[in-house]
Amino acid sequence: MKPLWERVMRLQPGTAAIPAIWRWAEVQPYLMQAAELITAQEAERRVLMLENPALQGTTFATTTLYAGLQVILPGEIARTHRHAPNALRLVLEGEGAYTAVEGERVMMRPGDFVTTPGWTWHDHGNTGSGPVVWLDGLDTAFANLFGAHFREEYPQESQSLSRLPGDAGARFGANLLPVEYRAEGLASPLLSYPYERTRDALARVARTADPHPAHGYKLRYANPTTGGHPFPTMTVCMQWLPKGFAGGQYRSTDGAVFCVVEGDGIVEIEDRSFEFKVHDIFIVPSWATYRLRAATEAILFSYSDRAAQEALGFWRQHPD
Ligand SMILES: [Fe+2]
Repeated sequence: MKPLWERVMRLQPGTAAIPAIWRWAEVQPYLMQAAELITAQEAERRVLMLENPALQGTTFATTTLYAGLQVILPGEIARTHRHAPNALRLVLEGEGAYTAVEGERVMMRPGDFVTTPGWTWHDHGNTGSGPVVWLDGLDTAFANLFGAHFREEYPQESQSLSRLPGDAGARFGANLLPVEYRAEGLASPLLSYPYERTRDALARVARTADPHPAHGYKLRYANPTTGGHPFPTMTVCMQWLPKGFAGGQYRSTDGAVFCVVEGDGIVEIEDRSFEFKVHDIFIVPSWATYRLRAATEAILFSYSDRAAQEALGFWRQHPD
């Protein structure tokens, strides 16, 4: 037994995670070094994890989310497996890589957001001529918390393909759904959200409306079969900051991982200030007050645990 009265007053919003940034200029040489030191076959996934400095030993970027940078060289295959956690990819650099999910190969281009729903077989390969790097985001901590982290290896390196390229896009990515469609899982069955379309949507929105005082122009990715988030746990967004944008202060209970897709600027998080450039990745912890400023036009990708918090009734923001 312990005295509750000595504990209860300390409960408050926020987590142990702290603001942090990984700068592409510093990270990229380590990724290339990793590519020389270990093969994708040896590593299974050649990834450098972005662990929050205040969460050492957890592997997590926030208390609920994982972030890692994966590099795959021409001709390499990251073998097929599946696991309970949901995964997302944001391609940073390089052409010619693919992710195969449940019998379909999806090509990955810079800025594309690619989904790997929990417990789907997936493997990656690089059919191009240079290294390809992407950001992996997973909701691993949820599966761990609940004691539900299953994982399994596929008998072969690459899974057999049962669908033509573009199949998921045709079924779910054209504002149409197969008649009588019944969802098989909680995550979006649309495997790829190509950057070209996302960027075009943001550019058009930015021409027709006033920016949000804190977010600029921010769109969230939707599960086309429900209108909800692409994962039961993770909200995923892309936002456009006009050149010279000076955002107001904002905070919310979802801890977020941001990745700079284009442009540069400054993010102030509590008492820290970070300059950001293309491909830099930074963490805004739960309930940390932050504001964004853009030196040039800037485009930021982000994912957070907002979807899970909304589903459970915990999510809050300030100002509303
Ligand atoms: Fe995986």
